[in-house]
Amino acid sequence: MESLILLVNTIQRACTTVGDHGGGNNALSSLWEALPSVAVVGGQSSGKSSVLESIVGRDFLPRGSGIVTRRPLVLQLHKTENGTEDYAEFLHLTKKKFTNFSLVRKEIEDETDRITGKNKQISPIPIHLSIFSPNVVNLTLIDLPGLTKVAVEGQPDTIVEDIETMVRSYVEKPNCLILAISPANQDIATSDAMKLAKEVDPTGDRTFGVLTKLDLMDKGTNALDVIEGRSYRLKYPWVGIVNRSQADINKNVDMMVARRKEREYFETSPDYGHLATRMGSEYLAKLLSKLLESVIRSRIPSILSLINNNIEELERELDQLGRPVAIDAGAQLYTILGMCRAFEKIFKEHLDGGRPGGAR
Ligand code: GDP
Ligand code: NA
Ligand code: MG
Repeated sequence: MESLILLVNTIQRACTTVGDHGGGNNALSSLWEALPSVAVVGGQSSGKSSVLESIVGRDFLPRGSGIVTRRPLVLQLHKTENGTEDYAEFLHLTKKKFTNFSLVRKEIEDETDRITGKNKQISPIPIHLSIFSPNVVNLTLIDLPGLTKVAVEGQPDTIVEDIETMVRSYVEKPNCLILAISPANQDIATSDAMKLAKEVDPTGDRTFGVLTKLDLMDKGTNALDVIEGRSYRLKYPWVGIVNRSQADINKNVDMMVARRKEREYFETSPDYGHLATRMGSEYLAKLLSKLLESVIRSRIPSILSLINNNIEELERELDQLGRPVAIDAGAQLYTILGMCRAFEKIFKEHLDGGRPGGAR
C-alpha cells in the first residue's frame, strides 16, 4: 500500500502548484489546512537546522548568522532501497535531479532570494524539496523561520512579529504536530519554542519536545527534569539530541559519523544511559514517521469528506469557467480534480485496510 505520508504530501504539493498554501479561502486551502503535518519551531540557533540535517543524514541547509530560513521549507523524505544513491528534487525545478547536496543548499538560498529579495524579508510561500535516500524514513517536515527577539541591521522592524505570525499560522492548525526545539544549555522556561507551543497547544497533545545541545550543559548539571517530563508535561516523551558542534561542522564531520557519535554519547552517558534507546535523531525520525502516519490514518474520514466537497466545488468552478477550458487555470483545475478522485480511491483502500474485518 502506498505510504499515507507521501500521499498526503502529494496533495499538499498540488495545492501549492495552483498557488495556494492555506492563505486563500476556497476548497483547496481548506484541504491544505486539514492535512496533518509536522512543523519545526524554535528560537534562532536552538539547533533546528542541525536536527533536520541529522534526520535526513545529509548536510544541505543554508547556514549563517541572522535569519537564514526566510521561507517555509516543506521537506519530503522518501525512503529508497538500500544501496541506491541519495538525490534531491525541488518542486519548482522538477526536471533537475540533485546529487550534490551543496548545490541543494545553494538552490534553497537562491530560491529564497527569488521571492524575498536580498534584503532579508520573509515570505510565507513554501519551497518544496524532496529527498530520496535509503537513510531516511518516510516523513514530511516543515522548516520555519527561527523565532527571534530583535531585528538586525537591514531588516524591517516588523520582522520579529512577522516571523511569529507566520510560524503561528502553521502551528495553530489543530492537525499540525509541533516539533518544538529548545537548547538544553538555556533555561527551558525561556524557550521560544515552548512558549509558542504552550499557547497554541496548552494540553501538550500535539507537541514534541526536543532538547538539543545536551553536550553543552554545565558540568555537574543534567536535563533529566525536562527529559523525564517533570518540567513540562507533554503527551509524548521528550527526545534529547546531540548534534554536530560548530567545530564539527567546520571540520566537515560526516553526518553518518555524527549519528554514530550521538548514539555513543547516549549509550555511555551516566545521566541518560537508561534512556539511550529513546534518545537521538534517528529515534526521533522513526517516532515522527510512525506518529504522522497514525494521525493521518485517524483523519482519513475527515480528509475524505473534504476531498468530496473539493470535487464538488472544483466541478462547480469548472462549470463557471465553461468547459473545455484551454487556459491554465482550467487545465490545473482538471488536474486537481483528477488527483482528488485518485486520492479518494486510495484513501478508501487505507480506510478499509485499517479496519478490523476490512479488506486487506
Ligand atoms: P538553528 O538556527 O536553530 O537552525 O540552529 P543550528 O542548527 O544552525 O545550530 C546553531 C549552532 O549550534 C551551530 O553552530 C551548531 O553546530 C550548534 N549546535 C546545534 N545543536 C548542537 C548540539 O546538540 N551540540 C552542540 N555542541 N552544538 C550544537
Ligand atoms: Na528556543
Ligand atoms: Mg537554521
